[in-house]
Amino acid sequence: MDVVVVGSCMTDLVSYVPRLPTLGETLHGHKFSMGFGGKGANQCIAASRLGASTAMVAKLGSDTFGDNYLKNFKDNNVNTEHVGQTAEAATGVAPIAVDDKGDNSIIIVAGANHCLSRSDLEGADDLITSAKVVICQLEIKPEVTLAAMTRAKNQGVCVVLNPAPAVKRLDDAMYSSCDIFCPNETEAEILTGTKVASISDASAAIKALQGKGCSTVIITMGSQGAVFAEPGQEAKHVAASPVNAVDSTGAGDAFVGALGYYLACMPQLTLSEKIQRSCTIASFSVERPGTQTSYRPKHELPKELFQV
Ligand code: RIB
Ligand code: NA
Repeated sequence: MDVVVVGSCMTDLVSYVPRLPTLGETLHGHKFSMGFGGKGANQCIAASRLGASTAMVAKLGSDTFGDNYLKNFKDNNVNTEHVGQTAEAATGVAPIAVDDKGDNSIIIVAGANHCLSRSDLEGADDLITSAKVVICQLEIKPEVTLAAMTRAKNQGVCVVLNPAPAVKRLDDAMYSSCDIFCPNETEAEILTGTKVASISDASAAIKALQGKGCSTVIITMGSQGAVFAEPGQEAKHVAASPVNAVDSTGAGDAFVGALGYYLACMPQLTLSEKIQRSCTIASFSVERPGTQTSYRPKHELPKELFQV
């Protein structure tokens, strides 16, 4: 497989609202939609739509949401041999509010995602150790994430960690068990304890993260693009083209999935070029509502993105 994702699946319950509610407030929304989400699955499907061969290692509930999700993976050509269903908990859900500017706030109830266990990983060992790229996030149990990363890295697989959603404290081993550590500006800020608003803030945060044991770090910065540094090199900024923002939910996942695709399928590109193209692909997703619904397949994207 080009890209294997060990991570989460959530059913997104999206309310479109004029603005995000304040404490104790009841607000009228103007639209509701349900979609397939969860950072892990979003990243996997983003990579698959670009043409990568993909597999997901995940846990759904034995319920309607879970059954529908399994079908969604199949419809998107994702291998589901290691997507299990459990009666112990419900399929993960994410109630999301999206305001008129396209900004969002998200609640996640992980449910069945927390039932993915180390023994599930053992069952998927061949898949994980033979992948070109393994991608993880923080929506399943941290010890399971770490076990997947460590196993893949020890076998020479390229490991990408998207440390999302944001946490204050991350097991030290998480920093050093990946080849690419890829937070957004908020996650980088919370992990380093220093503000990450400007490009130079991001460069400083990268140094701090490398001080904690990271190798290559990429910080995604929304409309500002991304800042990255390989070990021992200066940080570089990659700009993003301006977009007509409709819904930024899942744009970070579009970036990480695209990055996985480029690492596995177009290794000849420089890292800077891979990041530039991944930013472009993520920008397209911001112009459409929803998460996976906004990810364009390869044939709807500019050809240049797939040329050497
Ligand atoms: O990154 C966006 C995703 O975060 C949503 O799809 C939601 O499910 C949450 O996991
Ligand atoms: Na979107």
